[in-house]
Amino acid sequence: MKILVTGGTGFIGSHTVVELLNQNHEVVIIDNLCNSSKTVVKNLEKITNKKVPFFNIDIRNKKALEELCSESKFDCCIHFAGLKAVGESCQKPLEYYDNNINGTLVLLEVLNKYNCHNLIFSSSATVYGNPKSNPIDETFPKGTCTNPYGWTKSMIEQILIDLHTANPDWNIALLRYFNPIGAHKSGLIGENPNGVPNNLMPYITQVAVGMRKELSVFGNDYDTPDGTGVRDYIHVVDLAKGHVKALKVIEKKQGLKIYNLGTGHGYSVMQVIKTFEKVNNVKIPYQIKPRRSGDIAACYANAQKAFKELGWKAENTLEDMCRDSYNWEIHKKN
Ligand code: NAD
Ligand code: UFG
Repeated sequence: MKILVTGGTGFIGSHTVVELLNQNHEVVIIDNLCNSSKTVVKNLEKITNKKVPFFNIDIRNKKALEELCSESKFDCCIHFAGLKAVGESCQKPLEYYDNNINGTLVLLEVLNKYNCHNLIFSSSATVYGNPKSNPIDETFPKGTCTNPYGWTKSMIEQILIDLHTANPDWNIALLRYFNPIGAHKSGLIGENPNGVPNNLMPYITQVAVGMRKELSVFGNDYDTPDGTGVRDYIHVVDLAKGHVKALKVIEKKQGLKIYNLGTGHGYSVMQVIKTFEKVNNVKIPYQIKPRRSGDIAACYANAQKAFKELGWKAENTLEDMCRDSYNWEIHKKN
């Protein structure tokens, strides 16, 4: 297939481009580089030994998108482009709604005009809000989000559902990611957060290489086995492979489908710290701090639907994720 990848130089997009090229799909990346860099394209070419067409385009730029789509006929679009920092979204809600929602609307309008009715969308487990129990399956109701970023995901899902209802020619996979971490084994691509990381793993790797003094563990009084928050961490390469498998929805013209992409296992913050220390033979100093506002106690997937219908399941262990995250941080530093 010829696939338009928005946000393809970002963390998850870049790993997905590798897996798409490995399966001999043709890929074109667009990204405005607001949270990634052009060197990712060079590194993708090193990893895959293939040319990777890249265009610096903002998805809100209708004219530029139209030019691209009128010249290339895309079979499918995998849509990663978006802003994703939870804290920042509370400070700058209008920027988030404009970038993520308006950006998606412009993209959909152009895809529709050029007869590309096939889309895979990066959604998030955040749309479940605070689930009534775990593991969470796709029949769980969507919940109340605690920040504008989360609402953009929830609202875009609704827009896509409405679009499919209005025009069943659309085939759409809504992929709800749990907590992606890890990096490509080459150490050439990985997550590159700006400033102080919000997420657990990039903070841990920065402590590990001495960039930060210690980790703050946000709360040890949750109703979880050791009191710290429990999440479903998934290796980004497994997540990327899930996108290749989700192309089945497009190939078989299955309409709108929703899948959780997680491992099905929950690990606590303390388990992640201990595993990281063990596999990388490095100490992670930490201090217990109060709970972070908006956090829930536990969140992990029932990933059976993706296994049964797409033949996908995550293969990497927490050990692999810790090893590859550290390897990426070390490469980045040199
Ligand atoms: P990322 O920031 O690394 O990648 C997103 C890419 O989109 C970046 O390269 C950025 O420059 C680009 N971008 C942003 N706005 C754009 C615009 N208007 N036009 C063109 N390009 C634009 O983030 P990621 O972790 O790779 O996430 C990819 C997608 O998955 C996002 O939509 C994110 O919300 C979603 N998601 C991420 C996580 C996670 O924990 N990383 C979890 C659930 C869902
Ligand atoms: N945590 C710490 N210290 C830190 C950072 C995180 O103790 O410095 C804890 C959190 O309290 C939580 C766990 O580590 O218990 C995971 O936190 P992350 O910030 O890494 O991830 P979240 O589950 O809060 O959120 C992430 C993404 C969201 C996405 C969600 C579900 O940031 O965008 O996963 O996919 F919506």
